Amino acid sequence: MACRVLGWAVPPPPRLTRRFLFIFTLSLSCTYLCYSLLFCCDSLMQSRGLGEHRCLLIRNVGGKKLLQKSPYCSLEGPSPSAASPGAPALSSAPAPAPRLASTNHSGTPKLGTKRLPQAIIVGVKKGGTRAVLEFIRVHPDVRAVGTEPHFFDRNYDRGLDWYRSLMPRTLESQITMEKTPSYFVTKEAPRRIFNMSRDTKLIVVVRNPVTRAISDYTQTLSKKPDIPTFEGLSFRNRSLGLVDMSWNAIRIGMYVVHLESWLQYFPLAQIHFVSGERLITDPAGEMGRVQDFLGIKRVITDKHFYFNKTKGFPCLKKTESSILPRCLGKSKGRTHVQIDPEVIDQLRDFYRPYNIKFYETVGQDFRWE
Ligand SMILES: *[C@@H]1O[C@H](CO)[C@@H](O)[C@H](O)[C@H]1NC(C)=O
Ligand SMILES: *[C@@H]1O[C@H](CO)[C@@H](O)[C@H](O)[C@H]1NC(C)=O
Ligand SMILES: *[C@@H]1O[C@H](CO)[C@@H](O)[C@H](O)[C@H]1NC(C)=O
Ligand SMILES: *[C@@H]1O[C@H](CO)[C@@H](O)[C@H](O)[C@H]1NC(C)=O
Repeated sequence: MACRVLGWAVPPPPRLTRRFLFIFTLSLSCTYLCYSLLFCCDSLMQSRGLGEHRCLLIRNVGGKKLLQKSPYCSLEGPSPSAASPGAPALSSAPAPAPRLASTNHSGTPKLGTKRLPQAIIVGVKKGGTRAVLEFIRVHPDVRAVGTEPHFFDRNYDRGLDWYRSLMPRTLESQITMEKTPSYFVTKEAPRRIFNMSRDTKLIVVVRNPVTRAISDYTQTLSKKPDIPTFEGLSFRNRSLGLVDMSWNAIRIGMYVVHLESWLQYFPLAQIHFVSGERLITDPAGEMGRVQDFLGIKRVITDKHFYFNKTKGFPCLKKTESSILPRCLGKSKGRTHVQIDPEVIDQLRDFYRPYNIKFYETVGQDFRWE
């Protein structure tokens, strides 16, 4: 860094102690100068609404390591409208807080605090929850945990303080979010989330239960190639058309059954359903509704997406500062399983009454026929 070079360039004074003192003072001043400059620039850019440039600054400060921890760093950070100047709330993963956040000598502005999430993507597995999370965190008023905390299902014993510690730092105006798709099918989750805060906003990404089940199976198969066939696992007696409702891949898709237990704690208005299908065909429209539900400005629009035909999935457009491609969707390498069309028909019949009941309950037709 320029500061250190300066320190070394000074000719050595006669006495060791004096020399040491001199360098010490100099580096202190330099550090101060660097920080002041950084925060000055940062707040200037924010006031101009040049959020994208924040990443470049962050890179200079935190170095390579920090950048890798936060591949979506251009998408994060404080809201341009936030009052507190130059608060580089950085990492989103439950990774160690960035270096700057730990220094709080005079002159360093507040960097926000860790808060329990006000909104949670609670499900469903293979519905498109990752995409919704990555899309919504483009919003400057949203900060999210990158990994799945599994607090309300597997880690509840660790307590709310542990849970909070995983959260990114946020400013007053920002919403903290996380996603763990297994919450939706966890019996205790609604009560536990209600106990944390009855105001928690819940997002559920749903998708045709048949394609969801196949996608779920395909994922499992890629990890455990020895499992029985999809057809074998789906039925207790196929000729009788007896579907095995205890198999998770089937059970998760019985949305209305799980929804009932959420509705015992939360009013329907506090649960927002995202269509996994529309998320692909019209990501901006679907994300518009998510932003409305969260009570934040519609910042994420058409302009943020392009459709990658190879992937068959919408991707986030590259910004100046983003390095990694922000494309999600089907993994290309995944084994493609051929499912007997008759089985698909049988499952469609099986799910039909559940789907209809689900549409009625939420007051929305997802058109999974
Ligand atoms: C850092 O800031 C907090 C809150 O403003 C304060 O309580 C604490 O004493 C500060 N720590 C140091 C080392 O200045
Ligand atoms: C609800 O949360 C409080 C802490 O806020 C805790 O002491 C209590 O055990 C929780 N109750 C249930 C039923 O989870
Ligand atoms: C399925 O049901 C049919 C008719 O009741 C019966 O003959 C057959 O043995 C059953 N198959 C299995 C695998 O249980
Ligand atoms: C589309 O996705 C494919 C497969 O992941 C990738 O190789 C390609 O670079 C992407 N194209 C664009 C224009 O982003």
